[in-house]
Amino acid sequence: MVRPYAVKGGVKRKKREEVYDDEEIEATISTLENNTYKEEGKDKEEEEEIDRDETTMESELAGIPIAPSSSSVKKSKSGIVFVLERASLEVGKVGKTYQLLNSDEHSNFLKKHGKNPADYRPDIAHQALLAILDSPLNKAGRLQAVYVKTEKGVLFEVKPHCRMPRTFKRFCGIMLQLLQKLSITATGKREKLLRVIANPVTRHLPLNSRKIGLSHSSPKLVQLKEYVNAASDDMNLVFVVGAMSHGKINNDYTDDFISVSGYPLSAACCIGRICNALELKWKIL
Ligand SMILES: C[S@@+](CC[C@H](N)C(=O)[O-])C[C@H]1O[C@@H](n2cnc3c(N)ncnc32)[C@H](O)[C@@H]1O
Repeated sequence: MVRPYAVKGGVKRKKREEVYDDEEIEATISTLENNTYKEEGKDKEEEEEIDRDETTMESELAGIPIAPSSSSVKKSKSGIVFVLERASLEVGKVGKTYQLLNSDEHSNFLKKHGKNPADYRPDIAHQALLAILDSPLNKAGRLQAVYVKTEKGVLFEVKPHCRMPRTFKRFCGIMLQLLQKLSITATGKREKLLRVIANPVTRHLPLNSRKIGLSHSSPKLVQLKEYVNAASDDMNLVFVVGAMSHGKINNDYTDDFISVSGYPLSAACCIGRICNALELKWKIL
């Protein structure tokens, strides 16, 4: 198991019925009362609220509100799962504080410790998660689960109805808290929207699933639209995408390994393509 990073100030440990790791410490996040999910059509109001939050509460972490429940959407036979592999999410003690390491802010610190700053890119996971969670595919209730595995081997689950912080700074705050405390609860509720879980990811995947790894280096170049159209609707599709700046994903557990373009794309762009192909297939507008 991967040990959590030390938490400053100490935290209350609670006995849990569900244990996902040796110990699990509940994290509560500061709540921005108005930062709750708004129905479509109230976007402008939401944007104004976010602006207000950003100017008045810059130092606070955004609460993670809950997006509309997909339970209201008629459940279909199959679901989509995303696994983000090799996510660059690592905590370091910079000066006196623990921070999520990134190439922009911690270049000197990383070089001093013999690390390559180019490897520290939490923005890739941030953009990838936004692309997944903001997709019409998710809003239509077709996303079953999202798992993220960090370069250090920490595996965590992100609930599909979790609303990720929009800004990178807030995202870093939430990730820092998650990696320290092992779970993040919903604003004002007890539900865990993000939680560290035990490896390997395969034990969390639906039984009837086809695991599809993505890499530019795969010799199997596919047209995503045709590829997903050919998949049976009874089968859960699990897409494994890298959330690192370079290198390849671990494809030990994948059933297929595909390239979706002749060009090297960002993880978020690949995810956008996957979601788009599935939205076309299922006529999600
Ligand atoms: C920033 S890229 C990493 C680049 C890495 N050199 C590679 O091609 O795997 C992040 C992820 O996007 C996905 N990716 C990028 N371009 C792709 C392509 N043309 N086809 C399939 N997947 C791609 C892969 O899953 C990759 O791990």
